Amino acid sequence: MENRPQWGTRAGFIMAAVGSAIGLGNIWRFPGVAYENGGGAFFLPYLFALLTAGIPLLILEFTIGQKYRGSAPLSYSRMSKGAEWIGWWQVAIAFVISTYYAVIIAWAMSFAYFSFSNAWGDDPQTFLLVDYLQVGEAGAVGSLVPGVLIPLIIVWGVALGVLFAGVKRGIERANKIMIPTLVVLFLIIVIRAMTLPGALDGLNAFFQPNWEMITDGKVWVAAYGQIFFSLSIAFAIMITYSSYLPKKADITNNAFITGFANSSFELLAGFGVFAALGFMAAQQGVPISEVVSSGVILAFAVFPAIINEFPAFNEFFGFLFFTSLVLAGLTSLISITETYVAGIQEKFNVKRSTSVIVGGGIAAIISLLFATQGGLNFLDVVDYFVNQFGIAFAGLIEVVFIAWYIKQLDPLQKHANSVSDIRLGLWWKVCLGIITPVVLGYTMYDNLRQNLTAEYGDYPREFIFNFGWSVAIGVILLATLFSVKKWSGNSVQSSSNKKEVS
Ligand code: ALA
Repeated sequence: MENRPQWGTRAGFIMAAVGSAIGLGNIWRFPGVAYENGGGAFFLPYLFALLTAGIPLLILEFTIGQKYRGSAPLSYSRMSKGAEWIGWWQVAIAFVISTYYAVIIAWAMSFAYFSFSNAWGDDPQTFLLVDYLQVGEAGAVGSLVPGVLIPLIIVWGVALGVLFAGVKRGIERANKIMIPTLVVLFLIIVIRAMTLPGALDGLNAFFQPNWEMITDGKVWVAAYGQIFFSLSIAFAIMITYSSYLPKKADITNNAFITGFANSSFELLAGFGVFAALGFMAAQQGVPISEVVSSGVILAFAVFPAIINEFPAFNEFFGFLFFTSLVLAGLTSLISITETYVAGIQEKFNVKRSTSVIVGGGIAAIISLLFATQGGLNFLDVVDYFVNQFGIAFAGLIEVVFIAWYIKQLDPLQKHANSVSDIRLGLWWKVCLGIITPVVLGYTMYDNLRQNLTAEYGDYPREFIFNFGWSVAIGVILLATLFSVKKWSGNSVQSSSNKKEVS
């Protein structure tokens, strides 16, 4: 009798997978990335990446997790002994991401609170960088910023508390509450934004296709990067989550639902953000291109400025927006952290609670670095490198290793087909075995070439080396170390883990 924790219902699993996928990446990254990479024309590479890499990889990861029933390293190791390091590599990437992701949620929590008093005033960008984050020189750590530290403690408290409660009583329950709430709050904001004056101009700017751009390799890099980060693939999450599926649970249908739900939310965020930007541009009498931005500045400086201009209920809409960010972020953080909670638990054969305390505790301590005055600079570089040379690279190695080295696509396809409504045909193998490796391989080459010939951002070389390259290479070394250590107990031989509790 298997002792592994399990999702209570199919809806519970889908909610958790969607909760992982929908995150900060959808709200603050997607609209800006789409705009900068060809607007309406970006949808072509985006859809291509979704259909040929995103969903096929999601199906692959769901199948691996459900078939081998372990954390990512254990599942890889059961599939092929030599593959365990890929699992640890992806877990290590997730670990790094969790350390800064938690900090962004902490900022959002502060800003939800600031909304009540409009604390950012008339110059939200100065408020963000100088008053709130107290940003210092690149490379200098400076002191801890109390305004970030306090919400950060709350964020980790909530995430680890949910993980502590287990898969069904913790993760599933939290997602079942947070995701519907997020959708309702976000819909209110989007509907309001779309009814503001100037909204249509914003949407026109967003969808205006710049077809010339799609011949630029950079646009394809952006599309693949967005799909991987947004769908939570190639960083161990979806393997871990699907390892809690019942043995007969559907795979392919669930992957399509998750993929399309995530992209729909992404599109919704695009509508909301650009409608709001159109409104702000109209208020200020400037073109959209002058107000558009993405990432930190979009969410924490431009949005507060937009909220300032709202005709009524400014506090309420500010609160809704930042609470949406908190909810979207928390459900993703929980999934990111679960990857190493599960991995540590199985590798060292310890109780789930021990692994939550140790794994989550170490991540929480490291995340303090991003809560210092130098935090924003560290975050920017680590995020860039871990995405470009972590997730994308790990995704490439994953498909090449499975398709060409251990040649497991056939047995995995057979497994998926034996439990799913939608049967996988040749297209799935062509996408994973040929299209994805070719496009991702080129992408990696192009990326490496650009980063080796020119430094990212305006940072000093040493800083890029210490926090960019060292982190990207460090996660591979760490993965190798973990895979050298033997499994405690008999986890690899048997698919049940006696110490697991739900
Ligand atoms: N998939 C998560 C996001 O989009 C990590 O933020």
